[in-house]
Amino acid sequence: MPGEEHASPSLRAARVSSRRSALGSASLAARPSASQSTSPTSEAAAEAVKRADRELGSLDMVIANAGRSDTRLATRLTWQDVGPVIDLNVRGAMATLVAAIPVFVAQQRGHLVGVSSLAGIRGLPTSAAYSASKAALSTFLESLRIDLARAFIRVTDVQPGFVATPINEHAKHPTPFMVPVDTAARHIVRRLERAPAVLAFPWPLVLATRFARLLPAWLYDRAVGSQSGHV
Ligand SMILES: NC(=O)c1ccc[n+]([C@@H]2O[C@H](COP(=O)([O-])OP(=O)(O)OC[C@H]3O[C@@H](n4cnc5c(N)ncnc54)[C@H](OP(=O)(O)O)[C@@H]3O)[C@@H](O)[C@H]2O)c1
Repeated sequence: MPGEEHASPSLRAARVSSRRSALGSASLAARPSASQSTSPTSEAAAEAVKRADRELGSLDMVIANAGRSDTRLATRLTWQDVGPVIDLNVRGAMATLVAAIPVFVAQQRGHLVGVSSLAGIRGLPTSAAYSASKAALSTFLESLRIDLARAFIRVTDVQPGFVATPINEHAKHPTPFMVPVDTAARHIVRRLERAPAVLAFPWPLVLATRFARLLPAWLYDRAVGSQSGHV
């Protein structure tokens, strides 16, 4: 966008581009400019949602998908590593979802979707900020789901395992049951039609994480502790 670098951060964050979506219908994608490395502001998220509503006529679904990871042994962790992950994965995602609530309440329908991760089920080694950010988003979505049911607003927490996207390009940790990106996208789109509360995949990793959730801390630590050695 010409002159974008001179725009205010909130305007830059609210930059909205129109495109056809994987869902096969009109969609809008809002994204901060490259120079804004952290989260959209709440004003920018609200502006982006309003603009999408205006341009599309109404909104069926808002997906908070943006996210980043940070893989680092906690002995080397600094706030410079943690802050951007929380800003985007927690503040950015929540700002996007919250911005859509008034639009959906007014319509008396809508579908809020957040992309968290199976990494949020328990704290993964070398992923303290990422695991915590996704756990926060999942818990947020769960509360929204309960509160918004009576307003006819559906809420889905998408919890992928490992998907072959750039986020995993330089992964130094194991990535078991990695799913090709097209397969994952098709799976998500198909299952979103039914608006499940939780959309977790692939099933072997879902089973593993469900089981891991039941383990006492000492046993969980032993089971996954060796993975810290990879980073
Ligand atoms: N891949 C996996 O294994 C995996 C597993 C579990 C959960 N997830 C989650 O899935 C979501 C999508 O990730 P991905 O795998 O598709 O990774 P990706 O290929 O790295 O994509 C990251 C996405 O976040 C957007 N983004 C990055 N920084 C942003 C910012 N400051 N403001 C707005 N948008 C920003 C990117 O937009 P641009 O395309 O415009 O750069 C891109 O759409 C993330 O929330 C991730 O945590 C991924």
